[in-house]
Amino acid sequence: MVTDLEYRKSRDVFDSATEFDIQSAPLEEQALAEAIIAKNCRAIIIGVDEYTGKLYEALSKTGGDNGAIIARYGVGHDGVDKQLARKHNIVITNTPGVLDDSVAEHTVWLMGALARQITSHDRNMKSQEWNPSIGMEVQGKTLLIVGCGNIARKVARIGVFGFEMNVVGYDVMPLDAQQMKDEFGISSMAASLDDALSEADVVSIHLPAIDSTRHFISTEFLSKMKPGALLINTSRGSMVDECALYDALKNNNISGVALDVYEQEPYVPVDPGRDLRTLQPVVLTPHVGSSTTRACEKMAACCLKNINDFFDKKLDERVIVT
Ligand code: GLV
Repeated sequence: MVTDLEYRKSRDVFDSATEFDIQSAPLEEQALAEAIIAKNCRAIIIGVDEYTGKLYEALSKTGGDNGAIIARYGVGHDGVDKQLARKHNIVITNTPGVLDDSVAEHTVWLMGALARQITSHDRNMKSQEWNPSIGMEVQGKTLLIVGCGNIARKVARIGVFGFEMNVVGYDVMPLDAQQMKDEFGISSMAASLDDALSEADVVSIHLPAIDSTRHFISTEFLSKMKPGALLINTSRGSMVDECALYDALKNNNISGVALDVYEQEPYVPVDPGRDLRTLQPVVLTPHVGSSTTRACEKMAACCLKNINDFFDKKLDERVIVT
């Protein structure tokens, strides 16, 4: 079974797969669990939604001693409960690598949209307003990437070799600064996040959603950013304290924000009085970083391969999430 949203994103791949009887399933956990039981299904492909209980109980029943598989269509696995899965003999997989280009490109388009106010120019033109306001060139500017995984490294390469930006990296994991420079053009790995924040013109977040990164973008973080800097988040919404972000924008502490991910999705303001949609310059997209034709095809194909490999008992450990 494939949750409805993911099924629609990759319908061609799922409809042409011959090795399984594939059906679309509801996103909502209770309904999904009932569908799993009704169809006696042992393999499920899911998106980013959070599943906290019934899904695992259902798969535990259908999988029994042989086990079951939850194949994440994508990489982030903050929505699945690894402990519950282990308890119920369920393997979780994801699709590393196949969406890196898509998310990295989306990050760069968001930076461009902010730097040249593309969305507000577009809005103005469509309301018959000619307002040629002044934008910002990114050439020569400093881009700080917070979290230096594969997507961030691709963003760095585009920034350095495409726009001639100065890209600085920050990561809590010790990374080889020389390798970061040689392979991805990252000029330095920041020892101090505070110093790096005070110098960056653009800050792009690429952290995993874990307990220690929740609200990493806090009032304090935002107050340390260089006045006039831009912030982009295409990783996970839990990273950003959206109320703090609203206040920082409202007080002009930062100049612009582009978000693809939110504390709650579909987006609902955490505080109804601090709705990010009411502010400028804010560019918002509905979690579409990995939603390109190519990435969707690859994610679907990778999920099906993971499920096949699971049944053949030869699952590659690089796709197993623990
Ligand atoms: C998308 O957000 C993913 O985690 O795959």
